[in-house]
Amino acid sequence: MKNLLLLISMLVFFFQCSSGQFRYPPRCEAERYYRTKCNSCHRRPDPMDKTAEQWSVVLWEHQKRLSLDDDNLRNMIAFMQRGGVCSDTSYAESK
Ligand code: HEC
Repeated sequence: MKNLLLLISMLVFFFQCSSGQFRYPPRCEAERYYRTKCNSCHRRPDPMDKTAEQWSVVLWEHQKRLSLDDDNLRNMIAFMQRGGVCSDTSYAESK
């Protein structure tokens, strides 16, 4: 009985760790968009794969494919240029 409980709690623990792909909820709008949209047409790109200049070029060329207006696209570009880091954490705090 004790072993069964131990087994169940280990399974629960295992699934909790493996089900969520991310260790924390998105902390800004760009991060949420990156997680939910940037993998809908291809695998999610690594922010570290391109230079700041390349992100700007690629994503402005990408705009027609993205449901982002100019301001949000600028935000998205800045997010990728920072290596996938939010500039502030107000999003997580306000939700
Ligand atoms: C509506 C579909 C769609 C969405 C959404 C999308 N992409 Fe793409 N992406 C494409 C297609 C199609 C290509 C391949 C054609 C090309 O290279 O231009 C591509 C190519 C790329 C490339 C490779 C281009 C290169 O020159 O190396 C990068 C990087 C990229 N996408 C980043 C992103 C990011 C970041 C997001 C989220 C902000 C995103 N994509 C969302 C359709 C999409």
